[in-house]
Amino acid sequence: MTSGLRWFACGEDAIPVGEEWLVARERERLSRMRFTKRRNEYLLRRCAGKRAVAAALGLATDPAGLARIGMLNAPGGAPYVEVDGGRPGLEVSLTDRAGQAVALVGPEGALASGTIGIDLEIVETRSEGFVADFLTAPEQEYVAAERARAGSDGWDAAANLVWSAKEAALKVQRVGLRADTRSVVVTVVPVARDDGWGELAIAAASGEQYAGWWRRDGAFLLTIATLGAADPPAPLPGSADLAAAEPVHSWLAHPVVGA
Ligand SMILES: CC(C)(COP(=O)(O)OP(=O)(O)OC[C@H]1O[C@@H](n2cnc3c(N)ncnc32)[C@H](O)[C@@H]1OP(=O)(O)O)[C@@H](O)C(=O)NCCC(=O)NCCS
Repeated sequence: MTSGLRWFACGEDAIPVGEEWLVARERERLSRMRFTKRRNEYLLRRCAGKRAVAAALGLATDPAGLARIGMLNAPGGAPYVEVDGGRPGLEVSLTDRAGQAVALVGPEGALASGTIGIDLEIVETRSEGFVADFLTAPEQEYVAAERARAGSDGWDAAANLVWSAKEAALKVQRVGLRADTRSVVVTVVPVARDDGWGELAIAAASGEQYAGWWRRDGAFLLTIATLGAADPPAPLPGSADLAAAEPVHSWLAHPVVGA
């Protein structure tokens, strides 16, 4: 069971200055974003995605090299890659949270459906209402059991893990949060591994089953979902260490562009 999945993380400090590293359609989309948070996150995800593709294909990472790689979006929002205007046969999924972005890349069509999803969260406080509204009954039981085992930290870690895995699965489905989060049911498989990854099983209301992996790196929780079994993704060269990263919210200083 090898899948060729690989992941790459980077922080805001890796975003190149200026817009020379973007393709025209990326610049055009950026020009329509007025809020600093949205712009920062868009650039950060492009930074992770382009650097992931560059590392996977052995391309240069100077601004001109990154400008060969487009991280574009299909009409529903799902990302796809272009290199020099053509399709390089790589699939990508993108996510960011609190100043860090992660890209997951894999060979197109290597998995059953060729679709992959990734989501990054920080372990933050989640209310009883959040768990009751967005999680299914078995997921609520898991979160409650983690609170019984490890107190409020266990509750928050479990609630964020389940939430993140749902988002990764809904990216596999290419619907995102247009779908009801209870339409996918996440099971955390209690098997100890020594590579930092834990196993997930995700059942969709459609009858599809997704495989998944998760890891906790410091304040960050990373989940991936795939249609078809896949080994955990390997880190690409140059990827940042999430465990050493501090969550940041740099946009708060200048919420509106030009303000
Ligand atoms: C997919 C979604 C849940 C991710 O939201 P999030 O957790 O806040 O953000 P993340 O950083 O983890 O992920 C954002 C990335 O998800 C990807 N994404 C967006 N829509 C997607 C979809 N339908 N399928 C798969 N991936 C999708 C994109 O790559 C996006 O980054 P980009 O726009 O810079 O390319 C959310 O964007 C969504 O629900 N989108 C569909 C609904 C929609 O388009 N709403 C827009 C307002 S109407």
